[in-house]
This record gives sequence, C-alpha cells and structure tokens, in this order.
Amino acid sequence: MAASNTPYSGVRAKTQIPHHLSSSIVDLGSISFNKSKSNSKKTKIHSTLHSPSVLHFPTQPGTSEEDSSVTVNPKTNRYQPLWNFLQRAAATALDMAEAALVSHERQRPLPKTVDPRVQIAGNFSPVQEQKVRRSLPVTGTIPECIDGIYVRNGANPLLEPVAGHHFFDGDGMVHAMKIEKGSASYSCRFTETERLKQERGRGRPVFPKAIGELHGHSGIARLLLFYARGLCGLLDHTKGTGVANAGLVYFNDRLLAMSEDDLPYQVRITPCGDLETVGRYNFNSQLKHSMIAHPKIDPVSKELFALSYNVVQKPYLKYFRFFPDGKKSPDIDIPLPVPTMMHDFAITENFVVIPDQQVVFKLQEMLRGGSPVIYDKNKKSRFGILNKNATDAKDIIWVESPGSFCFHLWNAWEEPESNEVVVIGSCMTPPDSIFNDYDESLKSVLSEIRLNLKTGKSTRRPIIQESSNHVNLEAGMVNRNRLGRQTNYAYLAIAEPWPKVSGFAKVDLFTGEVKKYMYGNKSYGGEPFFLPTNQNCETEDDGYILAFVHDEKTWKSELQIVNAKNLQLEASVRLPSRVPYGFHGTFIDRRGLVNQA
Ligand SMILES: [Fe+2]
Repeated sequence: MAASNTPYSGVRAKTQIPHHLSSSIVDLGSISFNKSKSNSKKTKIHSTLHSPSVLHFPTQPGTSEEDSSVTVNPKTNRYQPLWNFLQRAAATALDMAEAALVSHERQRPLPKTVDPRVQIAGNFSPVQEQKVRRSLPVTGTIPECIDGIYVRNGANPLLEPVAGHHFFDGDGMVHAMKIEKGSASYSCRFTETERLKQERGRGRPVFPKAIGELHGHSGIARLLLFYARGLCGLLDHTKGTGVANAGLVYFNDRLLAMSEDDLPYQVRITPCGDLETVGRYNFNSQLKHSMIAHPKIDPVSKELFALSYNVVQKPYLKYFRFFPDGKKSPDIDIPLPVPTMMHDFAITENFVVIPDQQVVFKLQEMLRGGSPVIYDKNKKSRFGILNKNATDAKDIIWVESPGSFCFHLWNAWEEPESNEVVVIGSCMTPPDSIFNDYDESLKSVLSEIRLNLKTGKSTRRPIIQESSNHVNLEAGMVNRNRLGRQTNYAYLAIAEPWPKVSGFAKVDLFTGEVKKYMYGNKSYGGEPFFLPTNQNCETEDDGYILAFVHDEKTWKSELQIVNAKNLQLEASVRLPSRVPYGFHGTFIDRRGLVNQA
C-alpha cells in the first residue's frame, strides 16, 4: 500500500529530477497547425533521468500512525462553473473526445519520461497539504542565528493524471520550515494557481501538461481540446496556465513562487508559519508576460534581474529588472534567431550573462510526431554579455562557447585585468538528456567558462580535475550575499546515482578540492540551501546548509542542518509527514517575515 499521505495511487519510482523546467507551450496563443506535414516517424521521449527500470520500484515501508494522522485534505473551495445547456453539451462532447484520445494513447506504452507511474512514484509521489505542526522533535541543536523560515518549492500534482505526465508538470507546493529560538514547525500548501483552482473545481485535469502531454499528434489534439474548452467557456486560460512549482524568491517584501511559463504567484507566510496564496502577481500591472523561475537579486543594489522567453513569437527573449521598491524597468528585447530554452542565467557586478544554447523549441516537430524541445547540433552555443543598466541590446557582446549547455549557472564575476567574465555552471551532456533518450549516460560537469570580452573567445575547463573522480553536480548555489562577485565555494547536490541526490559537495572553485557530505544509506535529498550566519559575514563559508532529506528505508523525512565550514551535522528536525523530492528554495529571516506586504 502506498504511503497514506499520498493523495492517490502511489507507485514507486527510482527517479529524481533535480530541478524544474517548464515551457510556455500551453500559452501558444494563435499558433496555427495548418501545415499538416504528417510524418509517421515515431519519436519517443525518453530520458536518462529514468535510467533505472521502472519495473523494479523499491518497496515503501508501511506508514506510521503519526504519518497518517497529520495529513489534511486539499482545500475544498471549489470553482463552481455555471454552465448553460449548450456548454454542458459541449463539455460532454469534449470529455468524450478526450476519453477517445486517452483510449487511443493507451494502446501504446508511454515513454518513461511521461509515464506518471514512473514520474510521480516513490518519493516523487505527491502529498496532501499539511497544516502547521509545531515543536517538532529536534536532534542536536539548531544554531541560534537561524531565525526565520526556510521554504522550498516542488511539483505535487493534485489530481491523478489521465495521460502523460512529466515530473516537472505537477502543481506547485511549498514546504515551509519555520525556525525560532531553536524550535521548529512545518507546513506545506499548494500554491493556488488559476489552473489548480479550475481543475479542482472540475475534478479532472483540463490544462495540458507542458512536457508530459504536448508532444506529437496527441499533443496537438490536446491543445485543440484545450482551446475548444476555452472557446466554449468551460475553462479560462486568460489568467495563466502556470504551475508555479520551480523557484522561490523573496523580493520587495513578497514571497513569489514561480515557474517560467507564467507570472509569479505571491504566497504569504502567516505568523504561525502557515502559507496562503495571495494570487498571481504582476508587480502592480507592470509585468505583462511570464518570468523565468531563476531571477537574481544583486546583493549590493538589491535589484531583481529577470528574463522572459517566448516559444512562439519574436522577440523570443526579454530582459528586465526591478528596483528594490518594485518598480520595473522597460523590457529589453534580446535578439535570438530561434526560440531557446533558457531556464537560468547569471549576473555580475555590471553585467547580465545570458546563455543562448542548443536546446531549442521547434513546435513543428509536434507535427512530425515528436517533442517540440530538441537539441539543435547545428546551432552555436554562446553567452550574451549585456550591461545591467542597458536600455537596449545593441551593445550586447556574444561570445561563443562551443558545446556548452548549462541548465543552471551557479555564479559569474568579472576579472577586468584579463577582460574576462567568469561563469560557473554545470555543463550537461547530452544537452537534451532530460527530454530525450540516449545510450550514453548523462553527465553534469561543474565547469569554469571564461568569456573574453575583448577577443570574443572563450575557454572551458572542468573544475574538478580528476577524470576518475567524476561526480554529477546539479542544483545548489554559492553564498548569495556574494552573487555576481568572485566566490571561493559552491554547494552542489551530488546527483549520484543519477538522478538521485545522495548528498552535497562543497567545492573549492579555485583548487577543485571537493568535500562531500552524504545523507546516509538510502537517504536522498535535493538542492542544498546555503544560509549565511549573517548578512555581513567576513568569511564566505560562515553559514549552514539546509536540506530536506528523505530516508527510503524508514520512509521518514527530516530537515538536516549542516555546518558549511566543517560539514558537521548540527541538527536534524523530524518532519511529521513526507517531503517529496523537489526543486528550489529560499530563506526569509524574521525581519522579512514581519515586513511582508
Ligand atoms: Fe531550476
């Protein structure tokens, strides 16, 4: 039997996707599919993220009484559609059409990358919301300086998928650990996105899954169904289609939950440590389009820098920033030849660093029966360097960096003496491994890329030199108080055995020395979150690593707090319910909590 805090059929997986990517394909607007260039080529989406066989799921231990007694049902505030007769008839007809489509799809096994039995199994399976539980058992001593709330985002589908589902497609859920005077409390809540509210009201998924469903001819059929439902007034896609499940940032006194296919959602933390969604947040009507889930706050100017990409129409990329008071700068159109996946970017003191890489969107591939997200080997990978304060993109400097594909960029800084911008990222090969199947195993190599602004040349080197000691490093950060400046250390998830995260590494970016902290036998986590001891630490690694860790033997989860200097476990907090593997987090200190808008 599945864990009782799993809201629906829990199957068990071995897979972990260490972070989120979602495209904006659902928001196609007026895209036309009138060129019926049908091709019988069968393209399956597979992923080396799912290299273990799905037929051998680990057995979940039984769930304790404690586990089952603390979960609460999802909110029941239902969206009640008041349909007229014609709408009810249209709804029935469209539901029947969808049922026929699902029936047709079930004649063939789903690829592992979009098979929900794989994607949301084991500790990827969703949990129900958890009301605040206080005074949780603590082993060790929580350092006094930790005073605030650690929040982490993740994908947690409310409704059981009826067709394809990729882990990145799940509804956003925020897990919150409040720490005050050595005492800890925990809660988790869905972010109440517009799609979540409507699907809860219908009791069935009606918004297409951006990755799990939108590929091939079935994907086109689902888009047509989606727009037909919209035209009939059976759903409202004008308020966004995003899941807000990837990133979290605290800016201008607001906690924002983000996925790159929509506006952010504001989530308020209550005095007792609970979470409530305020709503879709457009920065007082200043933001008219989606925003990526990895905006950057400059630790000195306190500005927020961001990008927005479009998979359908030019401009394919926009750059913009917000001043500390929330005022937005005008958009700057960044000229790109093709719509390009851009999950992350970097800042330095003076520049934004924009990765224009080889994983691109080709929607016409759907007509050929394939995925719209492809690896374009003929495209040249490059980085764009643009002054942060630029008012247009005419002075952007593009520096080619052949073969570089970084899903995330951990930091960047300027070295004026050599006219270089140094970029620290994990280079993933093959670049589209998350979407397509390869015989070769995925590698994620922590790399230093040097971009020479004068010569236009670049170099790239692995930071960890020993080839025999390769370790996949993904998901993590530097000390964010030094973002955009030269940093000595990065704290990165050890995605081993890929795609699980068995610990984290503290890497000396100059010597390549690696110190590892492992979560223990059959215990796995995700992004290690570095929390500085205070804002003015003179020593870069003066702080703690916070990580949700799940023990697959006992089926218990905990928060581990590890001293970043010596990698000693300071404290662990036992959680009242399971925390699924998830994506990115942030920390809001006591002053931030008090000042919330
Ligand atoms: Fe990410």
